[in-house]
Amino acid sequence: MSIVEKAVEKLKTLPAEPPAPAQPPAAREAEPAHAAPPAAPTVERLQARTREAEPPVAPASSWHLDTVALRRVGLLPADREVERRLADELRAVKRPLLANAMGKGAETFTHGKRIMVTSAEAGEGKTFTAVNLAMSLAREADFEVLLVDGDVPKSDITHVFGLDGKPGLMDVLADERRSPGEAIVRTDVPNLLVVPAGEQHPLAAELFRSRRMEHVLDELGGRNRRRLVVFDSSPLLATAESQVLASHMGQVVLVVAAGVTRRQAVNSALHRLSELQYVGLVLNKSRVPSGENYYNRHSQYLKALKGGS
Ligand SMILES: Nc1ncnc2c1ncn2[C@@H]1O[C@H](COP(=O)(O)OP(=O)(O)OP(=O)(O)O)[C@@H](O)[C@H]1O
Ligand SMILES: [Mg+2]
Repeated sequence: MSIVEKAVEKLKTLPAEPPAPAQPPAAREAEPAHAAPPAAPTVERLQARTREAEPPVAPASSWHLDTVALRRVGLLPADREVERRLADELRAVKRPLLANAMGKGAETFTHGKRIMVTSAEAGEGKTFTAVNLAMSLAREADFEVLLVDGDVPKSDITHVFGLDGKPGLMDVLADERRSPGEAIVRTDVPNLLVVPAGEQHPLAAELFRSRRMEHVLDELGGRNRRRLVVFDSSPLLATAESQVLASHMGQVVLVVAAGVTRRQAVNSALHRLSELQYVGLVLNKSRVPSGENYYNRHSQYLKALKGGS
């Protein structure tokens, strides 16, 4: 119980102050500017202050995320044991991402709060990683996470979250009259917001490359210094828009399916990323102990790689 709440409880046991006399609005307007406002009973004042101090509870209109359905389709871990192991592994993944986002890493990355989850090829676990990483980041004290369905051709997050038909990224990108905020859906998972993909557009890569995109991304990032924007995406080697999307990011998580993805494909994907970004590799679906599935590949490493090593 907070100090204010304790004070409220204590004050409830005391006799209430007499209520201030009611005044018509016109009479209040006539008061001099320095006049004290009519005093509310102390308990009410303290309760009002308690309400202001508390983080906002998800409003009634927030979108319900059906976690049972997400488990059923395999986007959340199937049982508690897997969930516990995944939580441990995600801690290792998110630690450097958070440090970079707050500018506290070894290097500084522009747009460090924009994090894209991608992979070389299809089916490596991008959407699974993006959803679980976003949920894990949303559990961090003081952070808010905006999960964007940036995989426009497939839109798995949009479908699975039941957001088909809602305004999304492509809609606010294609129509300059629309506010990017229109695409943001607050969910009933605390501190988790979602942006659906929106309607398919034949010029997705061109729109991603446009000046409007930078404006939309700035607006989605919001004025909240602690809002992280996590993008799901299409495979880097399969679509042009994924590479363009990556160029707007400060950080990239490259998911690699253990024992499936060819080394050549991983190298080709790495070559499509910038030396100016932080890139972390997640070895997904592997059987090695947790904590050994994450590799930080800093820009120095990428420079060496591009140099032909
Ligand atoms: N770590 C994991 N543990 C359990 N299941 C996983 C894991 N990663 C991925 N999967 C499962 O593998 C399948 C593919 O995962 P996902 O849809 O995330 O891949 P993707 O890279 O987003 O695919 P696409 O390129 O088609 O969008 C899904 O059925 C998902 O449930
Ligand atoms: Mg996917």
